Amino acid sequence: MTRATPKSFHVKSFGCQMNVYDGTRMTELLAAQGLTEAGQDEADLVVLNTCHIREKATEKVYSDIGRIVKHSVEARGVRPMIAVAGCVAQAEGSEIPLRSKAVDIVVGPQAYHRLPALVADAATGVAALDTDMPTASKFGALPARRVTGASAFLTVQEGCDKFCTYCVVPYTRGAEVSRPWAQVMDEARALVEGGAREITLLGQNVNAWEGEDEAGRTRGLDGLIRALDRLPGLARIRYTTSHPCDMSEALIGAHGDVETLMPFLHLPVQSGSDRILKMMNRSHDSASYLRLIDRVRQARPDIAISGDFIVGFPGETESDFAATLALVETVGHAQAFSFKYSPRPGTPAADMDEQIPADVMEARLQRLQALLNSQQHAFNRATVGRHTRILIEREGRRPGQKLGKTPWLQSAHLATEAPIGSLIDVTIASAGPNSVAVEKI
Ligand code: SAH
Ligand code: SF4
Ligand code: F3S
Repeated sequence: MTRATPKSFHVKSFGCQMNVYDGTRMTELLAAQGLTEAGQDEADLVVLNTCHIREKATEKVYSDIGRIVKHSVEARGVRPMIAVAGCVAQAEGSEIPLRSKAVDIVVGPQAYHRLPALVADAATGVAALDTDMPTASKFGALPARRVTGASAFLTVQEGCDKFCTYCVVPYTRGAEVSRPWAQVMDEARALVEGGAREITLLGQNVNAWEGEDEAGRTRGLDGLIRALDRLPGLARIRYTTSHPCDMSEALIGAHGDVETLMPFLHLPVQSGSDRILKMMNRSHDSASYLRLIDRVRQARPDIAISGDFIVGFPGETESDFAATLALVETVGHAQAFSFKYSPRPGTPAADMDEQIPADVMEARLQRLQALLNSQQHAFNRATVGRHTRILIEREGRRPGQKLGKTPWLQSAHLATEAPIGSLIDVTIASAGPNSVAVEKI
């Protein structure tokens, strides 16, 4: 069946920050084709940039498709063209249009630069599916970056070779690849020219980034950070997500002496039980993780530590879980994400014995989150009285109010006329569980 060529589009991203980045690049790509951005119910083309990490995330896509089509038909009497992009597209490929007839296009995370051609195919009624992982990177085929706001994401590394036994990412994103130095520096310059004051370097294992600098020397992420530190106009650098095994001495050292590198480290550990870590194929144990945290804190004593945790991995006993709580107590987190284990098709852990009952998982998650929430509140309270700076990132909810971030990634509201992108000297006046209140100095 032929379809009208879409004139407007809407991109909706789920999942991690790398998907948010990809969503931005797809938006830039479609805008460069002359399509205009529209709301979800008004757009001729809706791109769902999906996440496959847990079952819930995947299932959400299918319920979303139904809802979007229904709303669009009710509002405008037309069925939009639907593209499924991202990690579900990669994992389920040609099964998607079989399961949902409303889907016109399926495009994987390494192929979305071909979206315009796929849209043209779909308009002529040709099946439009592309889940290739081409050797030539998509980045060269994407248009230049547009203005982005005060804080921008920049993907520098993609894919994962770690194969944790619970995780789909090595299958959906492919092998670890680092973007070349010059390409990253060019994109960073474009972002700063567009108004970005902060850049967050992204990768599934961003601290595994490796490349050659202008002089042909092999550099790690620390080298890239040091070069970005010298970029005029760039005030803040962050990076995420890191794997403990790729946390080099040089990168730890950068936290000690690169002023623009913010004192925040997201370093997932997943569990505090060595037995479970082994079954997860994490290639670190709890002691090596804690030593790492000590070294980072020696380099940068005020650093805020964040992490990811999975409860209810197959075979997790009450004493394994107690080891996770003990590790959390030792580390003291500024924030963290915690999840119930979700068996994923094709991963080794999905076939392991002793899958944990849902109610046990739920109870453990509640206990862990109670502890992590209290640590987050305690971290926020411990910053009260500090003189620091916030970067104004967007308008606040109330008129005249702006939303900013402290160096430790805490949200801070401030009544100010200062424009987005300003850095303002403040004192942290009081702390809540999820944000801090600040006063202008
Ligand atoms: N590369 C990153 C993780 C990306 S996925 C890293 O290793 O840190 C983000 C988080 O999702 C993981 O850290 C893990 O805590 C969680 N996760 C991954 N697979 C999961 C699964 N099958 N069930 C529950 N949580 C999972
Ligand atoms: Fe998944 Fe492990 Fe790779 Fe992280 S390191 S993306 S958890 S396989
Ligand atoms: Fe999800 Fe893919 Fe990111 S599975 S977490 S969107 S890499």
